[in-house]
Amino acid sequence: MHITETVLRDANQSLMATRLPLSDFKDVLDLMDKAGYHSVECWGGATFDSCLRYLGEDPWERLRTIKSHMKNTKLQMLLRGQNLLGYRHYSDDTVRRFVRKSIENGMDIIRIFDALNDMRNIRTAVDECLKAGGHAQGTICYTLSPIHNLEMYVGLGKEIEAMGCNSLCIKDMAGIMSPKECFDLVSALKAEIKLPIYVHTHATTGLGAMTYLKAAEAGAAGIDCATSCFAGGTSQPATESLTYTLSQMGFDCGVDRDVLKKVNDYFVPIRDKFIAEGTLDPYVLGTKADALTYQIPGGMLSNLVAQLKAQNALDRLDEVLLETPRVRRDLGYPPLVTPLSQMVGVQATVNVLVGERYKNVGKEIKAYIRGEYGKAPGPIDPALAAKVLGDEKPMTGRFAETIAPEFPEAEKYLGERAQSEEDVLSYIAFPQQAEQYFAKRDSEKPLKATYSIKEVQ
Ligand code: CO
Repeated sequence: MHITETVLRDANQSLMATRLPLSDFKDVLDLMDKAGYHSVECWGGATFDSCLRYLGEDPWERLRTIKSHMKNTKLQMLLRGQNLLGYRHYSDDTVRRFVRKSIENGMDIIRIFDALNDMRNIRTAVDECLKAGGHAQGTICYTLSPIHNLEMYVGLGKEIEAMGCNSLCIKDMAGIMSPKECFDLVSALKAEIKLPIYVHTHATTGLGAMTYLKAAEAGAAGIDCATSCFAGGTSQPATESLTYTLSQMGFDCGVDRDVLKKVNDYFVPIRDKFIAEGTLDPYVLGTKADALTYQIPGGMLSNLVAQLKAQNALDRLDEVLLETPRVRRDLGYPPLVTPLSQMVGVQATVNVLVGERYKNVGKEIKAYIRGEYGKAPGPIDPALAAKVLGDEKPMTGRFAETIAPEFPEAEKYLGERAQSEEDVLSYIAFPQQAEQYFAKRDSEKPLKATYSIKEVQ
């Protein structure tokens, strides 16, 4: 049974808004490399944005540093298909360059998903990953709805296999996949496709560890865990506990338990520091069985609370929680993962606070209804579609094909401020944050030589 350690990415992102700086974990990387993990998820997701926006770090530099300490362990990242690590669709040339550069800088396994499970939106990234010699892990976002069933998921699995992916991931971002559902889904996929199946869940609702056990029993190839002091709650189930359990049951996880303990000992004071300064609120470590009722991710619930607090309307939370699944139904049951989780949450809040449903429709929701995010999993409510579209026909092709190549223009605009192709990609992904970072870098080291990848690897 393969174990992926998530402390550097998903645990960091789910528990403390991705604020872990490289300086805090650089010294444990050599040790982590000896633990026997199949892979370490260490990049992608929100880490890229956070490096530039909050930590004053070059995300590419972070990746190269991690790689230089990890000779035995595969590096893994999460990529939002055509959205890369941002919140909009990028042009195909940007996607290809970004994926290629990720691999050149040290990435091994790229887990690629689309929020709508529209496989057209992961095809370019998968294709480039394979061409660049990476391991492409095609992903199914798991959600519950009247239209999502085993048949639909197996269909998606077949598309992923046909695309040439090396493995498949079932991604349960909300921790709502029950042990039985997981067993049935892994079994159904294994009956129809040959790819190794990885299961990703969160401990949010308390189901996670049980779900992983059933994943193993159903023949999954691997699971994602977090070292115990960064495990539980909105993070993953604990690495030590799962490997302890699984090895007793005859699943060899290949990990060295002494090293796992040392890794965790290293992270305990770091976790405590972030709790003391308020970055990690111990509240997120608790079990939220309510999510089984609302069926919305923990992160989305805290966003809704924050939005309502900002509007001085926290007393409307129950109404918003009732409205959220209705908005989701009207939109054809998109999985509640970034960016759809935010879009659905904001629209539900607006519907409640304005007092009339869809009197104001957000511009992202309009783009979604026009088909710019891809194909909705189910039918969009006809009245809402008519209101937004008028006489316009929704797009049926891939939105990315309407976006002109972005790289040449960005390169020209940045001129000497960009020291590498990676810099240009950072700028395309997060223009403001990248420019801010470049300015800081220039002011600190005005004579810094330009680097090439070969020199630093
Ligand atoms: Co996750």
